[in-house]
Order: sequence, then structure tokens, then C-alpha cells
Amino acid sequence: MPLAAPLIETRLDDLVPQRQGKVRDIFDCGDTLVMVATDRISAFDYVLGSGIPDKGKVLTQLSSFWFERTTDIVANHLLSTDVRDYPDHLRRHADILHGRSMLVRKTAPVAIECVARGYLSGSGWKEYVSTGSVCGIALPSGLRESDRLPAPIFTPATKAASGHDINISEQEAGRLVGVELINRLRELTLELYDHGARHAEANGIILADTKFEFGLMADNSILLIDEVMTPDSSRYWPEDQYAPGRPQPSFDKQYVRDYLEQIRWNKQPPVPSLPEQVVIGTRDKYLEAFHRLTGRELL
Ligand SMILES: Nc1ncnc2c1ncn2[C@@H]1O[C@H](COP(=O)(O)OP(=O)(O)OP(=O)(O)O)[C@@H](O)[C@H]1O
Ligand SMILES: [Mg+2]
Repeated sequence: MPLAAPLIETRLDDLVPQRQGKVRDIFDCGDTLVMVATDRISAFDYVLGSGIPDKGKVLTQLSSFWFERTTDIVANHLLSTDVRDYPDHLRRHADILHGRSMLVRKTAPVAIECVARGYLSGSGWKEYVSTGSVCGIALPSGLRESDRLPAPIFTPATKAASGHDINISEQEAGRLVGVELINRLRELTLELYDHGARHAEANGIILADTKFEFGLMADNSILLIDEVMTPDSSRYWPEDQYAPGRPQPSFDKQYVRDYLEQIRWNKQPPVPSLPEQVVIGTRDKYLEAFHRLTGRELL
């Protein structure tokens, strides 16, 4: 059966999203937001020329799976994934929005990315190589790239205007948003990571690291917002191929990375498109991750 066309942009007649990220389109509805995950895929900070059919559904439904499972740890922004609950002007577009969108409470986002790392990879590995620590946390010497850490660590980051994240120490994060708040966010971040990593591990998947965002309500209560433990906000590795001492294959994006290596893309525009086989292989990987983590069928 031929694949459905990927959703690249959320065009709802005359309605235009108020905000577009690399992957998500966001409709501002006053006290609420409708977040739509498209099928866009990014690599090396660029949105590629091809979409991955159903990727947005996987991201949305994986996020809602984690939101449902973590309410004992922290309240979250999810109000509904049923388009019939959306504001009138959006519910008319159920055909496009179904399965890939959520209605959420609008909050004041805390301006810190709350990262938990259980393994040494990416910017954490780079920092460790040059300083022996990550975000001011001293680590044992002699660790290899992708090694499991003695215990998961909280490594906050700020969002630079360029969109690139900058790792900061917890002290620095405390100066930015308050010591009491950052203490609470560290506890929540590590608890959420622990929950996700255990669950993933039981299903043969390593959750190497992940990024959470939190928002504050008018009464100062904390909500978990944004997306949660999706492949776009996390490093997921296949456990059966885990071998420290080098970068690990990515559960979801490895075919894409391999292809971009193969064509020797210089990681500058113009962005490449992906051959059909790479699109199909990548889609299968997203679906496999979804099935293994949730045990659910995609809606
Ligand atoms: N409940 C919420 N209330 C207010 N803002 C939210 C809520 N949930 C998520 N957000 C914000 O919405 C934005 C989502 O943007 P999105 O992730 O699509 O793009 P981005 O972060 O600008 O770029 P990237 O595509 O690289 O992630 C983020 O700034 C996030 O903090
Ligand atoms: Mg984002």
C-alpha cells in the first residue's frame, strides 16, 4: 500500500499557526494552545526537504502516553487529544488534526530547558572531554563516550536566540529563575527521567537523555509542558547495539544520518530531500519505537 503523504504544514483554510517550530505548529487560543505535530523532520538543526508520514502522530501519541503515566510525579498541560473538545474554529479540521494534536493549558514557560542525562553523549560528552565535568557536575575520570553515568544528572540549558541550547550550571540556572524553583525542577526532572528510562529499558530501549520544559500557572503551580520523552526531545538508543566508546546509533534517525553522511551533506542550506527507502525505513523505526514503548496502536 502506498504511504499517505506527509503533513508538512498545517494549512487549515485561512487559519495560520501563531508559531512554527522546526516540527510543531502552534495555534494560540487564549487560555489554551493547540499544538500540532507535523511530519517534518530535522537533522543537524535543519528541517529536511522530506517529511516522514505519521511521525507527528507518533510524537503526539507518545507524549500523551507519558503525560498519562506521570501525573503522580507532576501535573501537566494536557487537556485533551479529542478534537471535539477544541475551540470551534479548529474542531472543524478534525481530518487534519486527529491523532497529531493536543489541546493544552497555556502557561508562562520557565526559561530553562531541564535536561536529564543517564549517559555521556552529545554536548555532555564534549564538555566532559574538555573540562571533566558537565554543567558544573564533576564526573569520574576515564569515562568513554556513551558510557552510563554512575547516576543520572540534571544539566540545565538556556535557549539562545539562535535556537541553539547552551549548557549552564545549576547555580546559574538558580540565578536566572530562582533557587527554590530550580531545586524543585531538578527533582521533577530526575524523577521523570527515572520513570521513562526504566520503562524504556524494560522494552529494550535506552533513554540516554531527555529534555523537559515546565510552565507556571497564575497561582505559581508547576506544570510539565511541551512534548515529553519523544524521539525529538530525547536520545533513544537500541539496547541490543549499545557499545560505549563511540557514538550510538539513534533508534529513530539513524537511516537519515547514514544517508546524509553518504551524500556528504555539508550541513548548510540547501537542505537535502530523502530517498523513498530512507523515508520508509525511518517511518518504520518511529512506529517500532512507539509500539515498543506504549504497546498501543497508532490512532
Ligand atoms: N503549555 C504551554 N504553555 C506555553 N508555552 C508552551 C506550552 N507548551 C509548550 N510551550 C512552548 O511552545 C514552544 C514550542 O515550540 P517548538 O518546540 O515547536 O519550537 P522551538 O522550541 O522554537 O524550536 P524547536 O523546533 O527547535 O523545538 C516552546 O517555546 C515551548 O516552551
Ligand atoms: Mg522546542
